Amino acid sequence: MELFAEFLIIGSGIAGLRAAAELAGAGDILILTKAEPREGSTGYAQGGIAAAVGPDDSPELHAADTLAAGDGLCDERAVGVLVEEGPRYVRELMDWGAAFDRDPGGRPSLAIEGAHSVRRVLHAHDATGREIARTLWARASSLAGLTAYDHALAVELIVEDGRAIGACFLDEDGGASSAYAPAVLLATGGAGRVYRETTNPPVATGDGVAMAYRAGAAVVDMEFVQFHPTALQVAGQPRFLLSEALRGEGARLVNADGDAFMTRSEPGGDLAPRDRVSRAIVRESERTGHPVSLSLELLDPDFVHERFPLISDACRRAGLDLARDRVPVGPAAHYLMGGVATDVDGRTTLPGLFAAGEVACTGVHGANRLASNSLLEGLVFGARAGRAMRTSTPGGGSRPPVAAPRPARGGAPALLRAREIQDVMWREVGLFRDRAGLERALAAIEPAWRAVDAWIRDGGPLDADGWRTASLLTVGRLIARAALRREESRGAHYRSDYARRDDIHWRRRSRETMKLVNW
Ligand code: FAD
Ligand code: SIN
Repeated sequence: MELFAEFLIIGSGIAGLRAAAELAGAGDILILTKAEPREGSTGYAQGGIAAAVGPDDSPELHAADTLAAGDGLCDERAVGVLVEEGPRYVRELMDWGAAFDRDPGGRPSLAIEGAHSVRRVLHAHDATGREIARTLWARASSLAGLTAYDHALAVELIVEDGRAIGACFLDEDGGASSAYAPAVLLATGGAGRVYRETTNPPVATGDGVAMAYRAGAAVVDMEFVQFHPTALQVAGQPRFLLSEALRGEGARLVNADGDAFMTRSEPGGDLAPRDRVSRAIVRESERTGHPVSLSLELLDPDFVHERFPLISDACRRAGLDLARDRVPVGPAAHYLMGGVATDVDGRTTLPGLFAAGEVACTGVHGANRLASNSLLEGLVFGARAGRAMRTSTPGGGSRPPVAAPRPARGGAPALLRAREIQDVMWREVGLFRDRAGLERALAAIEPAWRAVDAWIRDGGPLDADGWRTASLLTVGRLIARAALRREESRGAHYRSDYARRDDIHWRRRSRETMKLVNW
């Protein structure tokens, strides 16, 4: 199958859908999405979306918190865009029907999360992402000229004369197809699945970063992976996220003796930045030999169940009462700060290719993302990318020539299994890193990546599992290489052998571009 449109969007989360809304009326829009249409991190987002809309807040204050969390590495221009434009886009979302919780006066009820200095997180109970996805899908469905293909796994960008002109994808039956457009947006989300322990859904395998890197686009800041401190840690249960909003409402992290240890570990206590809370949890578990738990014992149980219905249900399924029991928690990979390098309008270094949302890296989060800034990022930079795509198409509007799609099925080179990659990434490239561990990770990943990369370059066929493994290897390798290069600790990147932040040598972002020899 060959498909043609003016605009191709890969991914149907907040970034892809908001970009689509911006493209209304500008031409035919094609969305490819690899699973069910609403599957992706957006639909699982809990705590909320940050925006300076409260009476005690301002874009300047929001910027100051974002920059502090980013630990000296944020792109200040991108931060300015996010915090200045954020409130407008959030209000627009409400105008489109997003039903965020309201206070008794009818104003949006605002929550607080780690490292925010005031309440600024709009939310819909603990299912904010579901409400935003519902709103954006309703908006997208009303657009003339928009077609969405689900179970369409994009595997490679089509590049001609140094310009992205489309993507090859596999359909549900593994058949090879191609989609062409003069402007292509990657909105494929994150890569949490490169780690064994993650809050991310199965689709988050870093495909967008892998595709862009293979096509020669620059990727940046890949060493910065955020580990959320509080994923449910019960044997046999998924690592369900226990939102930071719980601590915003008064939940405490306690050790096996019931001691609220964060107060003595960190000046910010339970609401310190995520990287610090995550490391404190691991250290406390190692010190005591017991898991750490979240305790909501001091809160009114009716309030807890009413405010956090999804999390209450997940705990119930694990045999726990969120309001009364101590709920065992531990860190899990949650968000990729790095990604495909873009400017504030989503332009990558490859002409014709745009990126927005978690797959992209504007530098807005620096070394560590402030809680609830990611949905806002998807909204603001998704819209901006859409606007830039409207004006980017090359003159003439002619259909691009048809290139041969890659075959879809067949044997693959001997790859590491996904589980082996996830294990080695968790063990060696996780919360605590050092040279020896990073070298061990690369010794395992590099040969397998080289084999699959050569296979792909030679036009070797891969099935969906093979492509997934190729993505995990590519992204895992990029994270491990960047982590090995950065000989300091900053934000989410912690090196036990270089435990201090080193502004003299390392107050700079790290960039990697594949050398496209023989392509
Ligand atoms: P996603 O929403 O992940 O969408 C990616 C899309 O790309 C999906 O449709 C996927 O199927 C598709 N896709 C991927 N690869 C391919 C491919 N190869 N071919 C075709 N399609 C593909 N952030 C906040 O700001 N506030 C929160 O409260 C919050 N809570 C969170 C809770 C959880 C459990 C998780 C996992 C994340 C949370 N985050 C939160 C982070 C935030 O949800 C994500 O960063 C954000 O939703 C990413 O949006 P996106 O549009 O970039 O990607
Ligand atoms: C959470 O609800 O704790 C997640 C929020 C986020 O990832 O920003």
